[in-house]
Amino acid sequence: MIKKIDVAALRPGMFVHDLNCSWPQHSFLSYRFPIRSERDIHRIAELGIREVYIDTELGEDLAPSIAPLTDAAEPHAPWPEVDRATSPVRLPLAAELAKAKAIYRQALALVDSLMRSARFGKQLELHQMRPVVSAMVGSILRNPDAMLHAARLKQADQYTFQHSVATATLLIAFGREMKLDRELMEQVGMGGLLHDIGKQKIPLKILNKPASLDAQELALMRRHVEFSCDLLDASRGLSPAVLEVVAQHHERFDGTGYPLQLRGEEISVHGQLAAIVDVYDAITSDRSYHPAKEPSATMRQLLESSNRQFAPDLPSYFIRAIGIYPVGSLVRLESGVLAVVVEQSPDQLLRPRLTAVFDALTGTRVTPFEIDLAKPGNSDRIVSVENPDHWKIDINRFV
Ligand SMILES: [Fe+2]
Repeated sequence: MIKKIDVAALRPGMFVHDLNCSWPQHSFLSYRFPIRSERDIHRIAELGIREVYIDTELGEDLAPSIAPLTDAAEPHAPWPEVDRATSPVRLPLAAELAKAKAIYRQALALVDSLMRSARFGKQLELHQMRPVVSAMVGSILRNPDAMLHAARLKQADQYTFQHSVATATLLIAFGREMKLDRELMEQVGMGGLLHDIGKQKIPLKILNKPASLDAQELALMRRHVEFSCDLLDASRGLSPAVLEVVAQHHERFDGTGYPLQLRGEEISVHGQLAAIVDVYDAITSDRSYHPAKEPSATMRQLLESSNRQFAPDLPSYFIRAIGIYPVGSLVRLESGVLAVVVEQSPDQLLRPRLTAVFDALTGTRVTPFEIDLAKPGNSDRIVSVENPDHWKIDINRFV
C-alpha cells in the first residue's frame, strides 16, 4: 500500500516510493529506495522535502498510532507504474548503435521523400512508413540510447527532416516508458514522422526565416497543423493515435496551445506526449534564430512548466525515458575531469557511466578511462554540461 507520510515519521526499514518533489536534483535519483539509516532520512530532510510516499509492501509501515497524511494516495495515479523488472533486457549500446544509425538514415530519407511529395502535391506513399517505424521501435526496445543518440546528431540546415525523425524517436521512447503496446508505439512514431508535414505548404522564405516571425507570418506558420491534417485526411487508413499526434502536438494542457486551445483531458494522451516531445526537441536543437540548449537545462524547464503547459507528472516520465544526461553528452565532474556519457543507468539518472577524456584543471587530454558514477564508493559528481566544440572534443570517438 502506498501512503503519504511526514518526513519526520520516516524510519529505517521503510521503503520510499516517491520523494514528492518536483526537480530530482539530488543524490537519490533512483525513484524508489529503502531507508537504510537515519542518515538517509537527514539527507531527505535537508533537501527541504517535508512529505514522502512509502510503499508498505516493500518496507515497514507506520506505527499503528500514526495516521498517514492522506488516504492511500497514488502520486502518479493516471500514469503507469515504472516497473524495471519487466522491462526488456537492454542490448549494450555498442551492439545497437551502428544499426540504430542506419535505421535513422532510412527514416531521414523517408521523411525527405514524404515532404517532397507534400510540397509538390504528389500522393503520400504512407505504406513505406511501416517497415521503417517498426525498425525504429525494435531498436528502441533493444536499447533506447542508441536511436536517441543517433537522433541527436543533427545539422541546423536540415531542421525540418531531422526534427521529424527526432520527434518520432523521442515519442517511441516516451511511449515505451508509458507502457504503450508495440502497435501504439509504432503509431505514435508515425505521428512523429508526419507531425509537421503541413510545413511543406508554408513558403520557404517564412519556413527558413533567420529571425522571429511577424504576427502575420506566425499566424500562417501556425496553420501548418491544419495543413498537416488536410494532407493526411486525404490518405485514409491512418489510426486515431497517428492523427492525434499530428493534430494536437501544439495544444497545451493549460489551454494556451493551438489550433483549438484544447485544455486538460480534452487533449488525448498521445497528443500530450507529442506536446512535451515537440517542445523538448525544439529547445535542444540548433536553429538559425537560437542556439541549442543542453538537455538537462531543458528537462528542468519542462519540469518547471509541468503544472501549466503539461499534465502534472507527465514530464517526469519523459525524463525517465530520455535521461537527464543523454548518451553523447560531455559533462564536467567536481574533480575537474571532462567525460563523455556512454551509458545511462535507468534508475540512477544523475550517475551515468562515463569515459573520461580531458582534465580541465590542467588543460590536458587524458588517456580515456571509464568512470561509473553509480558504483558504490564513487563520490565524484556531475557539476555541469559542457560544449564539446569549446574543448575541441569529438564525442563520436568515444560513443
Ligand atoms: Fe509543429
